Amino acid sequence: MTPPALEWRQSARRLAARLWESDVLHDDGVRAAIEATPRHVFVPRFFVQEPTGAWVASDQRTPGYLDEVYRDRPLVTTLGELSDGQRVTVSSSTTPGLMVRMIEALELDDASRVLEIGTGTGYNAALLTRLLGARQVFSLDVAAELIEAARSRLARLGLTPTLLAADGAAGLPDHAPYDRIIATCSVRRVPWSWADQTRPGGLVLADLKPALHAGSLVALRRQEDRLEGRFLPRWAAFMAMRGAAAPAEIVEVRRGEEGARGTTSLGSDPASELVPWFLVQAELPRIVATGLRGRAPDGRPSWATVAAEDGSWCEVAMQADGTGSRVTRQGGPVRIWDRFERVVCEWENLGRPGWGRFGLTVRPDGSHIVWLDEPASPHRRVLPPTE
Ligand SMILES: C[S@@+](CC[C@H](N)C(=O)[O-])C[C@H]1O[C@@H](n2cnc3c(N)ncnc32)[C@H](O)[C@@H]1O
Repeated sequence: MTPPALEWRQSARRLAARLWESDVLHDDGVRAAIEATPRHVFVPRFFVQEPTGAWVASDQRTPGYLDEVYRDRPLVTTLGELSDGQRVTVSSSTTPGLMVRMIEALELDDASRVLEIGTGTGYNAALLTRLLGARQVFSLDVAAELIEAARSRLARLGLTPTLLAADGAAGLPDHAPYDRIIATCSVRRVPWSWADQTRPGGLVLADLKPALHAGSLVALRRQEDRLEGRFLPRWAAFMAMRGAAAPAEIVEVRRGEEGARGTTSLGSDPASELVPWFLVQAELPRIVATGLRGRAPDGRPSWATVAAEDGSWCEVAMQADGTGSRVTRQGGPVRIWDRFERVVCEWENLGRPGWGRFGLTVRPDGSHIVWLDEPASPHRRVLPPTE
């Protein structure tokens, strides 16, 4: 059952007004695109995870569906299954406010040709097409069935950007060069193919995440021999890119080893200090798993765990003692938690700079240099190229 046009139009207008009033949305053209784009067409069904872990679907017959779809929040639209039967998110409709922030950060003009990596529902491709026209918008997703669904939803609205099923790591060379590339899935490293396909002076906007939660959105300008630019001031996270460039599957923390014990005054999760958790990646082996394990008497998990490709691991007690201190355990070749704590300390000594003060230079050899304030800053860290 399709909701009456008036009802969704009011909802879309209210969404745009809320984004405007909360200082997220500033561009009249983007506002008009939000108001004219029926998000419910792109999200005919979404899933919500209950505290038990079960996923529950909502669709147009579910009370409150339309209100949910026009709220400023992400909606999980496709689930997959791991080999152990666990269900995982495969695609979602991004929070509209985040999409707006990214579109505004692209600094589009009427002539911009844009490639989107991660079509998903097609909602963002619809916004871009309304802004630029179908001939200037290209969007790809690794999942062919998502591309088909997005194509037919867009066509229902008379929107016909170029859509393709392909691994976004390679970009879309057939239609290059682009003025902008925007990725709505996260990458461990920005592929140089994206730089190759961006015009000089053009922008690549991507969520750089060498490990889970470790990184954020960065807007990189194409210069002759590099991509270079700053992180956006507000942290954000997208689901990781799948396919050839995807992270390895979950590995087990080595349970047989007791590890070296210590204590920490930080939170149990490195992501509780996001900037240093990103910075320390330059000196860690590749992180392949983060999660929770064990069961405390009150039923909650007892340990937050992090595991690296080379067998290094750390665990931090979820519950602090009366003084706020938590037990830590570490094992393997690299003391992950010790390094993280040291980088937290260095970052605090610098005055806890936020994302907007950090920038990134990406070289054709795949190296990523993270700098504070200026590319020539003495505070630089190098993320080595991945294999
Ligand atoms: C957060 S969703 C994108 C949301 C989308 N822009 C929208 O407006 O609905 C991330 C998408 O990235 C896609 N993706 C994951 N790995 C990819 C890859 N290697 N190449 C292209 N797309 C990929 C997923 O299939 C998923 O649909």
